[in-house]
This record gives sequence, C-alpha cells and structure tokens, in this order.
Amino acid sequence: MKKVRKAIIPAAGFGTRMLPATKAIPKEMITLIDKPVIQYAVEEAVSSGIETIVLITSKHKKSIEDHFDKNFELEEILKKGGKEKELEKILELANCCEIVSIRQKEQRGLGDAVYCAKNIIGDEPFAVILPDDVMLSKEPVIGQLIECYNKVEKSVVALQEVQMEDVSKYGIVSVKEKIEERLFLLDDMVEKPKENPPSTYAIIGRYVLDSNVMKNIGEITPGALGEIQLTDAIKKEAISSKVFGYLFKGERYDCGNVNGYLDAIINFALERDDLRDYLVQIIKNKFL
Ligand code: UTP
Repeated sequence: MKKVRKAIIPAAGFGTRMLPATKAIPKEMITLIDKPVIQYAVEEAVSSGIETIVLITSKHKKSIEDHFDKNFELEEILKKGGKEKELEKILELANCCEIVSIRQKEQRGLGDAVYCAKNIIGDEPFAVILPDDVMLSKEPVIGQLIECYNKVEKSVVALQEVQMEDVSKYGIVSVKEKIEERLFLLDDMVEKPKENPPSTYAIIGRYVLDSNVMKNIGEITPGALGEIQLTDAIKKEAISSKVFGYLFKGERYDCGNVNGYLDAIINFALERDDLRDYLVQIIKNKFL
C-alpha cells in the first residue's frame, strides 16, 4: 500500500463572502489570532506526517507563498535584536516541509483546483485540506483520515452532521453501511442538494483520496454552480470502487464567512492558556 505523503491545499478562490477584507488580501491570509488561517492547515498536515504540500493559488495570492518562504532580511534583524523566540517561529515556518505552489489560471471550481496538482500527485493517494475549515482537535483531523485510509485502503472523506436547513450549502452523502463507530461506507453523494438530501451528513473540507479520483476529475463535466466539483469525481469513485466517510473527532470552524470566523476567534482564544483569562476578563468587563 502506498503511503499518503502529499497534501493539496486549494487556495485559489475569490473569497467574496469575506469582502471587503479579501479585496487586496487573500482570504487564506486573514489572521486567526496570530497566524494566518492557512498556517493552521499546513501545521495540521505536517503534524499528520505529510511530507509535501501543494498550494493551489491564483493571481494576487503571492503573500501565501511568501509566508512559507525564507525571509533572510527579517531573520537578520531578529538575530541582531536578540529576538530569539520570534526568530524560531519564522525559521520553523520556512522549514516545516516541502511546499510547492501551482496557479489555477481560471477559478473553475474545487475539482479543477485539485486537478492542477495531478502531475505532482502521480499515482499516489493524496490528502486535500480546505484551509477555510479550521479544526480544533486533539488529534489532527487529516491524520484521523489518513489512519482510516490505511485501514480501508480506499478514499475517505470527513463527515459532520449538519442542520437540515443547512444541507444546501454542502456536499451531502448517502450511507450504505455503518462499518464501525464513526466509519461509514458511502454509496452516493450530491453537491448542494436543493431538496431531498440523502442524509444530514455533510462532507467537510478534509479528504484522503485514491489517485483514481484525480483521473475522474479529468473526465467529469461541470456540475453544481457550473463548476468542476470534487464531489462528482468522488461519487464516480464510490460507484466504480468504494468510498468511506468518517465522522471526525474535533470541532470545525468555517473561516470563509464572518460568523464562522468570529466563532473561531473566540474558541481558539479560549483554548489558549496565554489568552483564555484575558478574553474572559474582556467579556466580564463589558457585561458585568
Ligand atoms: P469556496 O466555495 O469557499 O469559494 O471554495 P471561495 O471563492 O474561496 O469563497 P467565496 O464563496 O467566494 O466566499 C472552497 C475552497 O476551494 C478553493 C477555495 O480557495 C477554498 O479553499 N477553490 C474554489 C479553488 O482553489 N479554486 C476554485 O476554482 C474554487
């Protein structure tokens, strides 16, 4: 069995829901407390054993590449100023793993963004991490999925139960069989169903996919919203082979919209020993 060594992080979208913040700054570079949102995705991949990350970017997203690159001038300034802690953080970032970047020339959908990495992925299984979905969990969520993949040796998508009124915002799966606690064999999936969803289990932005799925993307036509949908390529794989869904352990925050982003800031601050008391004090001062 081939090891999951590579992860694709699609970051080429326009981020219109976060305007005006995203007019000149990529959505992925908006900070969640003291790190850009995309750094959480990269750290999750690295702590799950991923060796190569493929960033899918677009015009006006150079700052993402710069963020993970070396910055000799800044390193010198920090060294001279004796700012060792800060220097350590900067060096860690630049050396965390191999990061390759590819441009998606036209924003034709998530499936198309993933397909941009096909030559780098080759015939290996690969992870996909959507950086908008930031996770709070003890075990990294993509690592949980890699563990499942190693067990079933087939594609695995992350699942979360959502409210019935929200199903039209997600890819929704149909479950054929419960295999064990949290793990399901899937027989169908539909992107953003307007009516009759097959369940309330939504696909969340973490995937570990067989290389067949990459091939499938090259064969599908535009689906929902006129875009090349990753869900359609995974559905094809569910029909010709097997695809599993895993109800991941942890909490997910959608930083691609204002409410989810605010929710993330509060909850990530409450998780941090250096910020929890401070945040509680601010709220108390306001209301008591
Ligand atoms: P979204 O559906 O959140 O789209 O994409 P978006 O353009 O980023 O944001 P809104 O809806 O305009 O606010 C989900 C993920 O897929 C990537 C996005 O960058 C995001 O990580 N994506 C989407 C691409 O890389 N290319 C595309 O053509 C579409």
